[in-house]
Amino acid sequence: MPSLGVNLDHIANVRQARLTKEPDPVQIALLAEIGGADGITVHLREDRRHIQDRDVELLKETIQTRLNLEMAATEEMIEMALQIVPDMVTLVPEKRNEITTEGGLDVQANLQFLSESTSRIQSAGIPVSLFVDPTHNQLEAAAKAGANWVELHTGDYATASWTDKPLKLAKLKEATAMARSIDLRVNAGHGLTYQNVEPVACIKGIEELNIGHTIIARALTVGLKEAVQEMKQLIRTPREEPLFGDPPKSAI
Ligand code: PXP
Repeated sequence: MPSLGVNLDHIANVRQARLTKEPDPVQIALLAEIGGADGITVHLREDRRHIQDRDVELLKETIQTRLNLEMAATEEMIEMALQIVPDMVTLVPEKRNEITTEGGLDVQANLQFLSESTSRIQSAGIPVSLFVDPTHNQLEAAAKAGANWVELHTGDYATASWTDKPLKLAKLKEATAMARSIDLRVNAGHGLTYQNVEPVACIKGIEELNIGHTIIARALTVGLKEAVQEMKQLIRTPREEPLFGDPPKSAI
């Protein structure tokens, strides 16, 4: 079953709403780890909307698990990654006015640029994951770009109606199998919740799920340690029976 990367961007969102010192994602990361997080994920955006440079620097120094740095493939961010040396860099697309990361990277259309960015980051010994939609074209392009991993965008699955979920789940399954067949390791995330995570956790070949919003929301009622424990439990022992109808034979 996959491991759990806990995304702490929303902790920084609350702090930045008042530009104060609290809540501090660095302190909160400790609670996530005590709750069973296998890794901590943060997105350092170009606009520094939530996570700040100091958060990434201190997380790197203090966490006991792995640090996955999400970032856009810009010169500034690549320099930052080379300096901090997180345990993984996940390259994501970034648009200034989006509420959250909207789609996957268009690796196919930006192959040369992303290949160069990937190899620069890898030259410091940092594995690179590309956040992509679960399609053949993007996976093939990710392999060509030399990525070690892909993170499959689960947003379409998460926002689909319960009727449409079997098709979206089948896409994720097929994409995982295809990625593995071309030597890409596979993570997944975006929009996963306590209600929809189990079928994704059952997909063989996915190594880690990156989950943020739903865990931080749940933490407001039960506390972060418990919220992480609850998610970890669902991911470790998901119900195997289909939560919705049989998936179609071929989806992507
Ligand atoms: N993976 C990536 C690449 C993301 O950009 C995000 C959102 O920051 C997540 C996972 C986590 O998504 P959510 O907050 O919806 O769980």
